[in-house]
Amino acid sequence: MKATEFNPSEYFDSIYARPVILEAKKLSQVFKHGKNERTVLNQLDLKIHKREFICVIGPSGCGKSTFSRIVAGLDPYSSGALLVDGKAIEGPSPERGMVFQGYTLFPWKTVKENVMFGPLMKGASNASAEASAREWIDIIGLEKYENQYPHQLSGGMKQRVAIARALVNEPKILLMDEPFGALDPHTRQKMQKHLMDLWQNIDITIIFVTHDMDEAILLADRIVALKANPGEIKEIIEVDLPRPRNAELMLTPEFKRLRDRVDFLVHAQEDERDPALENLPKIPRMTQVSTSK
Ligand SMILES: Nc1ncnc2c1ncn2[C@@H]1O[C@H](COP(=O)(O)OP(=O)(O)OP(=O)(O)O)[C@@H](O)[C@H]1O
Ligand SMILES: [Mg+2]
Repeated sequence: MKATEFNPSEYFDSIYARPVILEAKKLSQVFKHGKNERTVLNQLDLKIHKREFICVIGPSGCGKSTFSRIVAGLDPYSSGALLVDGKAIEGPSPERGMVFQGYTLFPWKTVKENVMFGPLMKGASNASAEASAREWIDIIGLEKYENQYPHQLSGGMKQRVAIARALVNEPKILLMDEPFGALDPHTRQKMQKHLMDLWQNIDITIIFVTHDMDEAILLADRIVALKANPGEIKEIIEVDLPRPRNAELMLTPEFKRLRDRVDFLVHAQEDERDPALENLPKIPRMTQVSTSK
């Protein structure tokens, strides 16, 4: 899409006209620490539409992973409602694929066996699971590595396998919590492009948690900026930039305007930091440092 052809209001109207795939209604998460309670997510209201690319951003400890784990069905929530296609989430499901930062591949299985795992769990025959796995391994460009084990792959390759392992189940939603956080900048950029290509070619809604403001602006249709203590939605930003988005776009005033806004939302409120990061203990010197040679 050329910049001149891109009409943001039409683009977002078409998104909002699509069915809502995920809806949080007054969603709260309260953790108990002994007698104390800590509200981590406070009454989140959010509607995500089919095929949207949503990035969730916010200061450390604001509840991004807490939210991801609830949507994944890994943790119960305290109150409110969370609906996928209008139905309450009750635990993990193949309809919600997950790719998290720590490589979650089975180290004792090959690339192919890792990707076959989901279909086999759903009762597919070995032959059909293998065929689906091969198809996805081709899409992520790792056909030469299908019989290798995770420890023989680079970080970027492992994350590609993790994406294939999630997508082979044909999920409606792909949940990604800082999936590229451990990658070097070059690999990260390649993975962002790869993910964009996948998203544009399959029917999937992506919820992507990141700390990286540039990454959020490059990828998202909308950015959900959370604040901390308690985690609440501070603002939802429509990223009104044409696609495909690339490094050159980052030099434009339009990009800078969005970046300044996101930066303000993530960093401005000094009083919203995670209390766990306050008053860190002073570390005693443990070795002698010589100042003379
Ligand atoms: N199971 C739990 N029990 C108690 N407290 C928890 C639990 N999980 C998370 N928390 C607390 O909830 C807060 C939010 O944690 P969370 O991991 O969601 O933050 P985050 O936004 O993902 O941070 P980061 O950017 O550092 O990954 C933290 O203060 C954390 O200590
Ligand atoms: Mg986190």
